[in-house]
Amino acid sequence: MKGVILAGGLGTRLYPLTKITNKHLLPVYDRPMIYYPIQCLVNAGIKDIMVVTGGRKSGDFLSLLGNGKDFGLKHFNYTYQEGEGGIAEALGLAAHWAAGEKICVVLGDNIIQGNIKRAAEDFERQQRGAKIMLKEVHDPERFGVAEIKDGKVVSIVEKPKQPKTNLAVIGIYMYDPRVFDIIKTLRPSDRGELEITDVNNWFIKDGSMTYEVLQGWWTDAGTFESLHRSACLIADGGANLMELPAAKK
Ligand code: G1P
Repeated sequence: MKGVILAGGLGTRLYPLTKITNKHLLPVYDRPMIYYPIQCLVNAGIKDIMVVTGGRKSGDFLSLLGNGKDFGLKHFNYTYQEGEGGIAEALGLAAHWAAGEKICVVLGDNIIQGNIKRAAEDFERQQRGAKIMLKEVHDPERFGVAEIKDGKVVSIVEKPKQPKTNLAVIGIYMYDPRVFDIIKTLRPSDRGELEITDVNNWFIKDGSMTYEVLQGWWTDAGTFESLHRSACLIADGGANLMELPAAKK
């Protein structure tokens, strides 16, 4: 399975921090935000990774990440999303590179404490379809929210005013190669974006969506409150992170 990290967008919810740089280059405690989703894929045993950047300072990703050596990788792949077309549009840019393989997508501002290795292995064995990861949250109206019946996801609603459950769909998604054909059929939502929730609802209708409830904490880092919370969670320890090179004195 290949990995895709989505790190585009203008990060307007973090303005003015994002006035001159890309959200995913901002610090979360002791390292840039994008280190966390990369670590998530590497911890899951995924070594072939594409970073989709966009917006401001996209060239800085290359300066920061280089060839991936710091993560034990041999190579990084990069592409660029023009404009603000949404998560699904950004993912569509990886179609030719995925070349018929399954993919694991991680949003560049999502940080988890634990490991998705077992879920990824389960998905490798799943014949077709998709897998999403869910997490109970106190503010589901900020996220895609899943409804479960008889052990199956029956619907996902994007940022519902009155959520039916407190199960947020976190920004880690696994798909079979059909995802790229589905993306081509999507129409922009009211916020003018191709929504990943529409992709997920397609797989639900297809009857091929599975899910897992994530163990350990999860947070996004795209608002001031969640960016601050992320730094505190990391500082408290317990996440499985690589050691950084010692700082020069
Ligand atoms: C996106 C997705 C949403 C998901 C969230 C996870 O929201 O649209 O379904 O729950 O990421 O971080 P966004 O942060 O783009 O508003």
